[in-house]
Amino acid sequence: MKISSPRGTSDILPDQIAAWQALEQKARTLFKTYGYSEIRTPVFEDTGLFKRSLGETTEVVNKQLLELKSASAGVGAAQEMPVQDSTFALRPEGTAPVVRAYNQYDLGREEFLSKLFYVGPMFRGERPQKGRLRQFHQIGAEAIGRGANHPFIDAEMIMLSVALLKSFGLNDFKLKINSLGSAEDKQKFADWLRLELKGRIDHLSEATQDQYQRNVFRLLDSKEEACKTLIQSLDIGTRHLSEGGLKYFEDVKQALDQAGVAYEVSSHLVRGLDYYTHTVFEISYAGLGAQDAVGAGGRYNGLIEQLGGGDRRFPEPVGAMGFALGMERILLALEAQGQRCAYKPSLDVFAVCGKPEFEKDVFALVHLLRQNGIAADMDFGRGRAVKKQFDQANKLGARFALVLGEEEMRNGTAGVKDMMTGTQIDVERSAIVEKIKSML
Ligand code: HAM
Repeated sequence: MKISSPRGTSDILPDQIAAWQALEQKARTLFKTYGYSEIRTPVFEDTGLFKRSLGETTEVVNKQLLELKSASAGVGAAQEMPVQDSTFALRPEGTAPVVRAYNQYDLGREEFLSKLFYVGPMFRGERPQKGRLRQFHQIGAEAIGRGANHPFIDAEMIMLSVALLKSFGLNDFKLKINSLGSAEDKQKFADWLRLELKGRIDHLSEATQDQYQRNVFRLLDSKEEACKTLIQSLDIGTRHLSEGGLKYFEDVKQALDQAGVAYEVSSHLVRGLDYYTHTVFEISYAGLGAQDAVGAGGRYNGLIEQLGGGDRRFPEPVGAMGFALGMERILLALEAQGQRCAYKPSLDVFAVCGKPEFEKDVFALVHLLRQNGIAADMDFGRGRAVKKQFDQANKLGARFALVLGEEEMRNGTAGVKDMMTGTQIDVERSAIVEKIKSML
């Protein structure tokens, strides 16, 4: 019986990889332009890290954490990974791990502002559907430090997200922003919501009432129709924002206006993770259907200290802002736009072996070419028909075919056939590297 990949995961096959690499390369170029350096964190972390940062009442922690369990406690390799005191979970997102690393290596001691980016797989035990996977990939960035307490950082992050999507070739996406204000403002917001909804949710589901008690913000992105209608009827506005919070949001918007970034302010946008304060944003692509968010982010002041970081030697608190884009959804959106990143195989030289006895010499020649930086390959068909070998050269996109037949073997030469023009010349085998290099 064949074994398939787990539900909600997918393989990226060689004919699909070009599209992924294109996204990564464009992202790396742009991150450099904006001054961000790459960070790579483990794909699993202490479960407590996610519980403490994303929030115990969030869907991601409550329902979707994929926790690791050793196969059999106390036997063999499992012993090397003790699980009695702590449990581990596959990372559902990149922000908490980056903050954990920031604190662990005390990055704030040396740097006023750390600008970090990451590209990699994330894991959530969701019900899989189009654009919603259990293993998916994010391109994300985080700006953390005493130097991150500036509305321009919020604007820069939003501008960088937009620039990334544009550089991938995505058009017509929509940016929504909102502000939750400071921690105190956010508390005021929660209190106001609770008061507004009091007595109006008694007829709704138990889950909704539970959310009302435990984390009222979760109701703002409820999937329950009756709850959605109720929430839509609320006039939220910016009533929860203090003077400082309002001014901060105004400064962010002004910076976006100045940069010509189009956005819509949506007072219902709170995001599904608990760590956010002040600016939050989401970017959607309408053509994607139900899972239309291609990226999202926001500010998370306070999370660094909450996870044990912060430095008493400095008076300023550590500020932080970031975002993550979903690579699968971006690729789906590009496809919906009709943009395909075609797979183009390419090889400099494919060596064609005239007779099975020549295989050793052909293999040695291919080795020599590779040692000299020429992309070379050969047929391993043990004397397959020469025609079949030429077909293979074509399939692999070889620029030249190198032919070693009886005559060439006798004369110490090799035939070099230009696969575009069809012309063939004889070259001394001792001069083959230089000759091919000059022709490439
Ligand atoms: P998030 O909104 O949970 O935020 O995820 C960001 C993006 O990842 C989403 O907009 C979506 O494109 C993609 N994504 C999320 N879940 C899935 C899934 N199951 N399948 C496919 N794609 C998915 C965060 O993760 C935050 N860490 C963003 C952030 C960074 N905030 C501050 N810094």
